[in-house]
Amino acid sequence: MKLKEDQKVARLFLLKKNKMTEIVIRTPKKGDLEDAWKFYNKVIKETSFLSRLMPVKLVDEKKWLNDTIISNKKKKSINLFAVHDGKIVGSCDVHTNKNERMKHVGTFGICILQDYTRCGLGTKLTQTILGLAKKELKIKIAELSVYSNNLIAQRLYRKIGFVHAGKIPKGIRQGKKFVDNIIMYKVLK
Ligand SMILES: CC(C)(COP(=O)(O)OP(=O)(O)OC[C@H]1O[C@@H](n2cnc3c(N)ncnc32)[C@H](O)[C@@H]1OP(=O)(O)O)[C@@H](O)C(=O)NCCC(=O)NCCS
Repeated sequence: MKLKEDQKVARLFLLKKNKMTEIVIRTPKKGDLEDAWKFYNKVIKETSFLSRLMPVKLVDEKKWLNDTIISNKKKKSINLFAVHDGKIVGSCDVHTNKNERMKHVGTFGICILQDYTRCGLGTKLTQTILGLAKKELKIKIAELSVYSNNLIAQRLYRKIGFVHAGKIPKGIRQGKKFVDNIIMYKVLK
């Protein structure tokens, strides 16, 4: 199966602040530009654990979205958005390795708006994309890197079955300080 632009891959019902909330998980589309731009700039403001820094210009977001859609079509990556009431509230991706001998290894990343955390969305998004990455991208191992002080993300990853591979001491600069870069992986079964 080939994943298309704007393809719905899951429909979730999550209990958010005691309210049943419907979240659609789908692939990106060109029309997402403004919303994706707003989402990323909001999420970047909320957390200091992401690689992209403020401000992301609309022109850069446009290039990112176009490149992402092409890369998804070529089966080099999968990107998914979590959408509530037509607004993007979460995003995740798996990229295959450019090295021919490492094509079976995919790099995973995730971010969710603070208001939508703690209701299971991170778990569902991760499980959904890893299942798709195994089937569609034929990857056998998912890997990621996470700031040593991002304990919440590490808890999510361990819950999903990621294990520590090692760390690069002071491998990430966070403002004026340096933190360890923790490398984790999961064999996809
Ligand atoms: C990390 C992140 C994706 C987690 O998403 P989420 O939707 O809250 O995840 P879930 O609700 O599925 O929770 C998964 C697990 O994470 C842990 N967790 C989540 N939020 C937590 C919190 N505030 N305190 C402690 N543990 C927490 C728990 O172990 C939880 O499992 P449990 O509910 O069974 O106990 C989200 O917080 C986020 O996007 N953070 C900002 C960006 C970021 O750090 N990305 C990762 C970069 S490597």
